[in-house]
Amino acid sequence: MQISEDGQLYIGGCSTTQLAQTYGTPLFVYDEDLLRANIQAFHKAFQQFDVDYSVAYASKAFCTKAIIQLVQEEGCALDVVSGGELYTALAAGMKPEHIHFHGNNKTRDELEYAVEQSIGTVVVDNFDELILLNNIAKAKAKAVRILLRISPGVEAHTHEYIATGQQDSKFGFDLESGQAHDAIVRLTELPHLQCIGLHAHIGSQIFDSRGFMEAVSRLGKLFDEAQRLGLDFPVMNLGGGFGIRYTDEDHPIPIVDMIRDTVQAVIQHFAEKGRPCPEIWVEPGRAIVGPAGATLYTVGSRKQISGIRNYVSVDGGMVDNPRLALYGARYEALLANRANDTDDGIWSVAGKSCESGDMLIWDIPLPHPQPNDILCVLSTGAYNYSMASHYNRIPHPAVVFVRDGKARKVVRRETWEDVTRFDCDCDDEPVSLAAVSASVNDEV
Ligand code: LLP
Repeated sequence: MQISEDGQLYIGGCSTTQLAQTYGTPLFVYDEDLLRANIQAFHKAFQQFDVDYSVAYASKAFCTKAIIQLVQEEGCALDVVSGGELYTALAAGMKPEHIHFHGNNKTRDELEYAVEQSIGTVVVDNFDELILLNNIAKAKAKAVRILLRISPGVEAHTHEYIATGQQDSKFGFDLESGQAHDAIVRLTELPHLQCIGLHAHIGSQIFDSRGFMEAVSRLGKLFDEAQRLGLDFPVMNLGGGFGIRYTDEDHPIPIVDMIRDTVQAVIQHFAEKGRPCPEIWVEPGRAIVGPAGATLYTVGSRKQISGIRNYVSVDGGMVDNPRLALYGARYEALLANRANDTDDGIWSVAGKSCESGDMLIWDIPLPHPQPNDILCVLSTGAYNYSMASHYNRIPHPAVVFVRDGKARKVVRRETWEDVTRFDCDCDDEPVSLAAVSASVNDEV
């Protein structure tokens, strides 16, 4: 990101005001070099050690064909959590054997699709899924590779981690109560599943390595138990959650340090037991795409309430970034066409939806915004486009990747026609459900 002498913000060598003119706003802009560098930071961190590893991009953070192709080019595997993400991955050309399928309630259809496509690993979350997947594998005469997702009783978030108390979670086999142990024992009765390891994901936006090290220690003990039962698992998957900087208040330790501490903990655990170190897998989403994305908006109306607050409204909002409304998330922003102008007031950035909670940023310094200024909100690359909604029938923005002064559109902007495309014609004849179920029974 650069600012020219005349105050224009550039991303990937492209003028953001020209991007806004060419593609319209709101517009998601991803710096392609930064996306690739963020992935390489993980590879370099692992390559300091003599360990086998895999970096799987958690596609839920931003799932489109273009990013999936990019992460595959950069040597990543892929984590998906739904049939839709799996379909997108396969449509993008992701090698099925490099895909892991997560989720606490995968449907039979989704599991059948995954097995038919011979994806790499299903991360099994609970006993019902173990049985369902074993039956599907049997029916399709396939051996399915799985990991067991463990809920390790470690919850990490920013600077804190809690070593107990995260038992109350919908995800995974609970360690504390013995569910995880029981699941491992159960594997011997499920001949169509080949368990290759254990998985734990301890939280989001984690700023230091202590939570990961605690998870290694707890998972390590479970590997020891499995070994006593005659099961040698070759993979330990430690999930995602690597934190990023959104504002000055965020101070994550560098990826290289986070990975070093975590890998050393794994190496040490297995060295002490005299057993080979398993392959170490991680699943970062936010740390890859978050800092590489920014959103451009056009400034519209303003409202100043003397002594109370100044509001500036933009042409998007919670529909393309619900994170303030959902989590109280904080962002930084600047005027992309007047980036060198002196901030002369405090403004709150509102969206255009019919909801008071539709805010993007509370109280940031800006040079008095004018209609048609371009406002750029930074670090919006993770969980913004992927969580966009159609509230108020607002179409989804376009997405461009920028690099070396060139832009390529990777998702087109939706139109008003697009947002009505699933509405059925109102003059369709009502159908009697009795007639429908009779014909379904005939087919059966
Ligand atoms: N692996 C698993 C099993 C996960 O559940 C997640 C995120 C990740 C990996 C990737 O985590 P990351 O590295 O991106 O933090 N919508 C929320 C975040 C939800 C994260 C859910 N799981 C947000 O906007 O902050």
